[in-house]
Amino acid sequence: MAANWEVRKTPGDTAWFTNDRFGMFIHWGLYALPARHEWIKNIERIKEEKYDKYFKYFDPDLYDPKAWAREAKNAGMKYAVLTSKHHEGFCLFDSQYTDYKCTNTPAGRDLVREYVEAFRAEGLRVGFYYSLIDWHHPDFPVDGLHPRRDDENARELNEGRDMKRYAKYMRDQVTELLTNYGKIDILWFDFSYADNNYNGFKGKGRDDWEAEELIATARAINPGIIIDNRTEIEQDLWTPEQWQPTEWQRDDEGNLVVWEACQTFSGSWGYHRDETSWKSPEMLVRMLVNTVSCGGNLLLNVGPTARGYFDYRAVNALQAIGDWMHYNGKSVYGCTQAEFAAPTDVRYTQNGGRLYVHIYAYPFRDLCLPGLAGKVDYAQFLHDNSELLFQEKGDDLVVSVPPLKPRVIVPVIELMLK
Ligand code: GLC
Repeated sequence: MAANWEVRKTPGDTAWFTNDRFGMFIHWGLYALPARHEWIKNIERIKEEKYDKYFKYFDPDLYDPKAWAREAKNAGMKYAVLTSKHHEGFCLFDSQYTDYKCTNTPAGRDLVREYVEAFRAEGLRVGFYYSLIDWHHPDFPVDGLHPRRDDENARELNEGRDMKRYAKYMRDQVTELLTNYGKIDILWFDFSYADNNYNGFKGKGRDDWEAEELIATARAINPGIIIDNRTEIEQDLWTPEQWQPTEWQRDDEGNLVVWEACQTFSGSWGYHRDETSWKSPEMLVRMLVNTVSCGGNLLLNVGPTARGYFDYRAVNALQAIGDWMHYNGKSVYGCTQAEFAAPTDVRYTQNGGRLYVHIYAYPFRDLCLPGLAGKVDYAQFLHDNSELLFQEKGDDLVVSVPPLKPRVIVPVIELMLK
């Protein structure tokens, strides 16, 4: 059928991924305690002694990943990606290669294991984010992003730090993550900044991470795993962050790629108590629709609190999306960019012979869809399967919509193509 786009082949298995379209990102770590951005150690140049307090008092007594998994599923999400380790270096899993892990905090147990089990039990696919950057590891050289960059002795601090040893540490931890928790679906490395130069400190990129070997390590365990592009080596996934592409992403040769936009509910990835720039439900639904209308996936982030639950603002947002997805998910799952161009204030997605028309500005009575005359067999609202009458005028399909907007954040018309 129509809308069969040719997408550049990748090493991993992305068939399930481009069908499922919608996932949950989870940024959780010690930074949930300061609750003012996951980069706080960098931003405030926090010393280890101070940061150790967060380690000492990390006590997520209300951590209930089964509730997380239910909340993700009810929102219509089909997979999740959890920060097994973020830039601060703290591990949410029981790694044998470090003491800097949750089992040594008051949490006292392997939080990754519980997450994996809970999400799988709800039928969701499971991914791990793994930070290439590590602001705690003694072998990770100070650079322009490191909390110690402005210390008087910053340069001396680098004496004896051995990046090769750190690269090996990453391979060992990735091996643990991919062998100790069953089959993992996504490995999300973050990130490279080889061009960064700060006071003579060079940034880090693929050669520093020994990225080829790192990826080979992962693929040897799980050849089909989906890996992102942030090691600076193209793999399965492009990852536009905090901006919404308005076209299908292409590589330098012009080939369409598999891509996934990642977005926050508010400005921060980790729990940020005082952040007020929360996106409205309408904006969130539009982000999802816009993404799928350009052939992409959306990974929407929650930053759980230090006690381990989703803040009410995140819960409300997830519920609003879930309400919409419950009735309109058919225009997301299995869908991709349509073979037709949509007019202003309309977004199309398509699944074979079904064209989904998302209405961003509700019209008075007639919705004109150029170029669709003669192509449509039947029309209905998606949320209730109620018939919509239409006429053909020249090239246009003119759909009559009821004068009152239905109680749906973004109404969707389902057109059965001939
Ligand atoms: C980043 C940030 C970050 C976040 C991420 C998500 O580049 O460093 O804190 O984890 O991207 O895409």
